[in-house]
Amino acid sequence: MAQSNFLTLDEVAQNLKVTRQTVSKYIKNNELNAVKINKSYRITTDDFESFITNNSTSEEPQIAYLKRTKNCALNYGEKVDEFEILHAVSTGELKIIEKNHSESENKFIFGDNFLVLKQLLDTYRGKIDLVYIDPPFGTGQHFNSIDDHAAYSDKLVDSEFLEFLRKRLILIRELLSERGSIYLHIDKKIGHYVKIIMDEVFGYHNFINDITRIKCNPKNFARNAYGNYSDMILYYSKNRDEQIWNDITETMSEAKRKELFPKKHPKLGYYTTNPIHAPGKTLDGDTGLEWKGLLPPKGRHWRYNRAVLTELDEQGLIEWSSTGNPRKIVLASEHKGFKIQDVWEFKDRGLSYVDYPTQKNDSLLERIILNSSNEDSIVLDCFAGSGSTLKAAAKLNRKWIGVDNSNHAFEIIKEGLSKENIACNYFEYFSKY
Ligand SMILES: C[S@@+](CC[C@H](N)C(=O)[O-])C[C@H]1O[C@@H](n2cnc3c(N)ncnc32)[C@H](O)[C@@H]1O
Repeated sequence: MAQSNFLTLDEVAQNLKVTRQTVSKYIKNNELNAVKINKSYRITTDDFESFITNNSTSEEPQIAYLKRTKNCALNYGEKVDEFEILHAVSTGELKIIEKNHSESENKFIFGDNFLVLKQLLDTYRGKIDLVYIDPPFGTGQHFNSIDDHAAYSDKLVDSEFLEFLRKRLILIRELLSERGSIYLHIDKKIGHYVKIIMDEVFGYHNFINDITRIKCNPKNFARNAYGNYSDMILYYSKNRDEQIWNDITETMSEAKRKELFPKKHPKLGYYTTNPIHAPGKTLDGDTGLEWKGLLPPKGRHWRYNRAVLTELDEQGLIEWSSTGNPRKIVLASEHKGFKIQDVWEFKDRGLSYVDYPTQKNDSLLERIILNSSNEDSIVLDCFAGSGSTLKAAAKLNRKWIGVDNSNHAFEIIKEGLSKENIACNYFEYFSKY
């Protein structure tokens, strides 16, 4: 919005999400300044900017944040009014540069993600079910690939970085569907500030988890600190408890199987046994009565009615010890998997094993996509890097959109998708001026 260009009434209406008539009313009431060029009214971007500034008070956003957070907000000098971010004019357009299929999604857009997200709002407002982003971490470093290609620069730091991210998060919130959610990957140096920004943008009540991701092997630091071998993934929904939640479980590892189901049955496979009685005495019910010549131990009752116990025994699912003690057989094959907890181990592979610096693990992305999207969902990664999220989404039959502004990322994404026969349409954001 720095340079002074002209906007049509339709463009102003579109930006303010009001009708053309409302814009005319603003002009008639002298609230919005317009100039007549060739019989049509035009508004300079400077006038439009003043209109936005005049119509948003500094107290309003503050009050909005306080409602969304625990009655506090993160303050720094460059914090732009949310209204202004939402109504900033995007003068560019997305041009197709390579068409490989006829679907509307499954596309990669080369360009700055703020401008691209603004453009995507026209078509995808409220339609994106899942966003995974792994932005730069505000480290001030430059990242190169193993063959020394400049991949991207992480040069914004501190509050400038937070504001960069906040602007994009506000647009992402508008893109998310009512059942949508966002996972934001970040390190622990800046992550706690980002948490407060996310509370302000999405609302504290929509915060679901702070997932600790174990990223590498334990470190042997010389400095006086605990080894730092994890980062964090902040998970928010657009609307708490309405988000897609497929409740996927963690399958049992072989080590866990050995620990929990150590015995092998010739026909039924690996198993363990559980007692068939439980604490508490039944006074006059079936579960307190004698079964196969045995009474439940003192102060306990049978876990099942005697008819069920007999049926289990006939099916060979009761194991009798040499001393005549019965226990129920529990099969490893019937284990439903473990509830996933908030510490995940998905270690990064070394630079020589990946296509792009800071490339994330495929299985981590598959877990997120499986749990928080469905086959009809659109998955967005607007810090796409190597395209790892896009590939995982394609593999799981989701629709996907990727954005990045690094030339190297663009090359790697093209190479990676074509290697895996994943059809993608490629676009570029062009500024009109
Ligand atoms: C940490 S990397 C993402 C790595 C990715 N998750 C992967 O698995 O390969 C961050 C990416 O964000 C991109 N990026 C940074 N600022 C951007 C911006 N303003 N617009 C678009 N992409 C941006 C960088 O080019 C870089 O590729």
